[in-house]
Amino acid sequence: MSFTTIAVIGAGQMGQGIAQVFATAGFKVILNDIDSAAIERGIATLKRSLAKLAEKELLNESAELISGRIRGSTDFSALTSAQLVVEAATENEQLKHKIFSQLDKICPPSTILATNTSSISITRLAAATERPDQVIGLHFMNPVPLMKLIEVIRGLQTSDETYQSVLQLADKLNKVAVTSQDRPGFIVNRILMPMINEAIFTVYEGVACAEEIDQAMKLGAAHPMGPLALADLIGLDTCLSIMQVLYEGFSDSKYRPCPLLKQMVDAGYNGRKSGRGFFDYD
Ligand code: CAA
Repeated sequence: MSFTTIAVIGAGQMGQGIAQVFATAGFKVILNDIDSAAIERGIATLKRSLAKLAEKELLNESAELISGRIRGSTDFSALTSAQLVVEAATENEQLKHKIFSQLDKICPPSTILATNTSSISITRLAAATERPDQVIGLHFMNPVPLMKLIEVIRGLQTSDETYQSVLQLADKLNKVAVTSQDRPGFIVNRILMPMINEAIFTVYEGVACAEEIDQAMKLGAAHPMGPLALADLIGLDTCLSIMQVLYEGFSDSKYRPCPLLKQMVDAGYNGRKSGRGFFDYD
């Protein structure tokens, strides 16, 4: 399968980063969101990221040429010109099912439908379509332009052809693909999220404050950033929904989300994007 145009659904921090890396690799990109203000914010943020990378001479072309390949659209029917759609909407299974069944109806039969879900079953999303063999998980890491990994997740129904096409694509993005079975949390979040959740329990139980916990993990375990700063970067709402997927998916109490995480999300303290999480971002 050869790709020229890629559509990305959702202009949040993952969607805008994914749009940026596809445009950097030379693809035309349609960045779709139901909210036109979110598209504007997303494009403004990715332009700042491109400017930073250009400053460090990490781009082969001008930042303007790259961002010029990205077109924002609130119109779902604009997605029909893409050979690959990458869904990066909110981490909510019902919403993703709805998007997949709509995409299936409007996209040409050859279009591959991928999801950036960080933990939801690819097999179940594929089953919401009439082309389950062309549905696959393409899980990018945050911040997308800097992190080398893409987790590739095959649903039970995903064909070899779809799988090979996205592996070749990962290469073109200059990323490294690692394949995971379709199990809750795949590889990265299965391991990372319980660590973040445990760091939150450590605050909750008063073992140490957020600054000390992060300092300990940076200096004692050589993590590039502390688990609580990372939770703020990922978004506490996203961390909670991933923990819930692990908890329900494995029916194992070891994945119980920390009550403090739930409370912070209830309060709207979702991390960097809301200006407040374990740290302040004013
Ligand atoms: N685009 C361009 N440049 C960026 C950027 C972006 N999106 N984000 C950060 N940078 C730049 C910063 O501006 C900074 O530039 P200067 O040195 O010129 O100031 C540079 O990158 C380094 O950033 P920082 O100094 O802020 O901090 P750092 O050295 O710690 O690097 C980091 C930042 C790359 C994010 C590093 O801390 C890191 O690797 N952290 C771990 C990230 C991680 O674990 N991600 C995976 C999360 S899990 C996930 O994503 C899956 C999921 O489903 C939830």
